[in-house]
Amino acid sequence: MRTSAAAALAIAFGAANVVASPVTKRQNTTASSIDDTTILNYALTLEHLENAFYRDALAQFDAAAFESAGFPAWVRGRFSQIAEHEASHVAVLSGALGDAAVQACEYTFPYTDPKSFAALSAVIENVGVSAYVGAAASIMDKTYLTVAGSILTTEARHQAWVSSAVNQAEPWSGPYDTPVAFSPVYSVAAQFIKNGSCPASNGALPFTAFPALTYMDGKVAFEGLSGQNQYVVLYQGLNIATYPIGADGSVSLPETQGIAYITVSTEKNATLTGDDNIIAGPAVVANPFDAYASNPAPTFTSA
Ligand SMILES: *[C@@H]1O[C@H](CO)[C@@H](O)[C@H](O)[C@H]1NC(C)=O
Ligand SMILES: *[C@@H]1O[C@H](CO)[C@@H](O)[C@H](O)[C@H]1NC(C)=O
Ligand SMILES: *[C@@H]1O[C@H](CO)[C@@H](O)[C@H](O)[C@H]1NC(C)=O
Repeated sequence: MRTSAAAALAIAFGAANVVASPVTKRQNTTASSIDDTTILNYALTLEHLENAFYRDALAQFDAAAFESAGFPAWVRGRFSQIAEHEASHVAVLSGALGDAAVQACEYTFPYTDPKSFAALSAVIENVGVSAYVGAAASIMDKTYLTVAGSILTTEARHQAWVSSAVNQAEPWSGPYDTPVAFSPVYSVAAQFIKNGSCPASNGALPFTAFPALTYMDGKVAFEGLSGQNQYVVLYQGLNIATYPIGADGSVSLPETQGIAYITVSTEKNATLTGDDNIIAGPAVVANPFDAYASNPAPTFTSA
């Protein structure tokens, strides 16, 4: 099960190589330029994606398909409940935005069977949680903050259920979920959005879709790799640190647990890393850990 989850991660985060680049153009975004309408449309962009993800998979895989994948009958039932939740999130955010609401695009997901779907579900829910945590501090209106918090905790329940009950892996990564900023989250979402499929009326979100990043066997790969003043930025829980990249993409990362994220930046100082200097990613670093491992807060520091 872990092997298939890891494989799905690699597929999911390598998919930007296959799916052509997304809907927006590069812009310099500072936190102050992001208003609540933009944040709600960003959330709605993710919810449209999740809604399509569950709706289409359930349409494709019936009870017999889940059964022959080795899942008990209740697994598909719970996924159906999750699908209802995502549809409700779309309706609530669309209602709050009214005429300003972005519409759904067309999506493509690299699952091939209920197992790879469940593995990808755990990743998508993880990214969803990280997106809401990362956006929380930018939300101005307290009413929206309550709604976003209510969605966030529900997505976290989805993630924990899929990861542990279904995929038989760890339900969490550690004491703190990882906040991920707008553009890195958008970069993940964009790789599942079919090129050119969003209605023109949507307009572009003011976020950057960074080039794809892969990490395997201690090496990163991305377009523009030189190893000159390039750093892997590692995010887990509330920790961020940077690690220099060699000319061949080699990088020495500390041990992490569960799901951590990495990007590549030209900035060495972890505090100063962000949209202005990120040049690729994110990618997921997945390190499953068993029930008997200690799982403290991460304490890694920049190299
Ligand atoms: C982006 O905007 C910030 C704040 O105005 C500025 O400090 C930074 O230099 C800009 N970056 C680029 C790449 O234009
Ligand atoms: C895909 O996106 C790229 C970049 O925005 C664009 O140049 C290209 O024409 C698009 N291709 C299709 C088939 O829409
Ligand atoms: C990193 O940047 C922060 C914010 O500017 C600064 O306070 C800190 O001293 C810098 N750290 C190093 C090691 O240069």
